[in-house]
Amino acid sequence: MSTFTDYNSVSTNYDYGREATGAEYYIGALLTRLEIPLKDIHVLDAGCGTGNYSKMLLDRGVGKVTLLDGSEGMLAHAKKKCEGRGLAETKHHVLPTLPFPASSFDCVMFNNVLHHLESPGEELQAPKALAEAFRVLKPGGLLIIFNLMNHQFEKGFWFSRFLPAPMQRYKDGLPKTEIYLEALKSIGYDNEQVMVPLNLLLAPKVYFDEEGPLKQEFRSTHSFFSMTSPEELKQIQENLSELKRIGQLKDYVREMDRERVLVGQSCFFFATKPQTNSIM
Ligand SMILES: C[S@@+](CC[C@H](N)C(=O)[O-])C[C@H]1O[C@@H](n2cnc3c(N)ncnc32)[C@H](O)[C@@H]1O
Repeated sequence: MSTFTDYNSVSTNYDYGREATGAEYYIGALLTRLEIPLKDIHVLDAGCGTGNYSKMLLDRGVGKVTLLDGSEGMLAHAKKKCEGRGLAETKHHVLPTLPFPASSFDCVMFNNVLHHLESPGEELQAPKALAEAFRVLKPGGLLIIFNLMNHQFEKGFWFSRFLPAPMQRYKDGLPKTEIYLEALKSIGYDNEQVMVPLNLLLAPKVYFDEEGPLKQEFRSTHSFFSMTSPEELKQIQENLSELKRIGQLKDYVREMDRERVLVGQSCFFFATKPQTNSIM
């Protein structure tokens, strides 16, 4: 369960704008780091949502996926997309634990999910999920994290700067690169790599819709909006409507989007479980 977004209600609109982006990075990492044919690879999609990333991997020849999510609504969509074509198992389960035996998967991926595990002022949960991934990976297995990081939200999303308070609140809950890298190292992962695809958009079909924040479907595609109070949302919408009324909305979006290509919208982390280790 996300600590701040109700994904059962979001599930009906999530695919309005969201899709699996960056296929080349996933397939590239699987091919170069695992050195086994794609058809023999079993991937755990932890926090699979509506299954877009699993479907993308199956479409490109990955043999098997297991879907896990804390929202039954999201999971139902994911199951529909992957059923009958390499779907090994579907699990309704809440991270950070993983309900699988040790050494079960060739790859575990967490796409846009780890920040949903955190609550302000409480102990970080993501490192626990990463340790669980380590346990359920086979020796030599690959971890992939794809996540919006703390330093990216402000400049990476044009709609982040309508109001400073919700922006700061959302940003404060986003992970820091150095903390994830430290966690990977201390858990025992090897060959950690951070990669920032500067041009990759999370929701390419709708990102440039200047009136998006006025639409429920658009807001469902980004968890930032579930962190705004009704008053803040109203304020954001009034600001946007005013910019539109005076004919400056397009310029505003262009200006607020200018630095996105310097920071990107998300980071990839790749890491490998060593072939031999003393933990298992
Ligand atoms: C932003 S969506 C990402 C979905 C998908 N991975 C993608 O990138 O399209 C976050 C997903 O994580 C799931 N989630 C959030 N917290 C969770 C938790 N503690 N355990 C399991 N799933 C969780 C939500 O239900 C939701 O489906």
